[in-house]
Amino acid sequence: MTATLERRPEPETARAGRVVWFTGLSGAGKSTLAAALHAELTARGVAAELLDGDAVRENLSKGLGFSRQDRDTNVRRIGFVAGLLARHGVTVLVSAISPYADTRREVLAALPNALEVFVDAPLEVVTARDVKGLYLKAIAGEIQHFTGVSDPYEAPQTPDLHLRTAELTVQEGLRGLLQALGEE
Ligand code: PPS
Repeated sequence: MTATLERRPEPETARAGRVVWFTGLSGAGKSTLAAALHAELTARGVAAELLDGDAVRENLSKGLGFSRQDRDTNVRRIGFVAGLLARHGVTVLVSAISPYADTRREVLAALPNALEVFVDAPLEVVTARDVKGLYLKAIAGEIQHFTGVSDPYEAPQTPDLHLRTAELTVQEGLRGLLQALGEE
């Protein structure tokens, strides 16, 4: 018996989903904004999925650390999964520090229709907020390679959307996001 492998066409989807990529320091508000957008899109009947840094690191990227190489691997994996989901019409909300401009550029370039959102809060603000208590530890030298303290963060120069979270409410940020997505 012989088996013939036929090349199946890619499944047609009505419309590819967008990828909204939130980048910024820890504590800048990436996850909060992504969760708010997720709730709003879901309420409007838009198929949306969150790929949140912390959750990804517990599953898809379990075992990776915070060296440049590991962060880049993490970001590329997220980009890969985001691309698969978007191809099937899902709007994907990525929240990851993704600190290296080159890697972000590479990953975003491979995602048609991606939006880069710079979630921008000054280091003094995120340090004062210190939601997870990590900045205090990083400053004390108890955590090595902490973004913004002892590791670089390369801010986007031309993001699609620049949200200064120290000056905006979540609702205002959400409005900007919906506008950028043409969903207002
Ligand atoms: S990256 O750079 O994109 O791979 O980082 P990410 O996957 O988003 O993970 C960031 C979260 O991990 C926690 N954490 C650290 N962040 C930065 N530097 C170091 N060294 C570090 N160690 C642990 C931190 O809680 C980040 O969460 P967020 O949601 O950004 O606050």
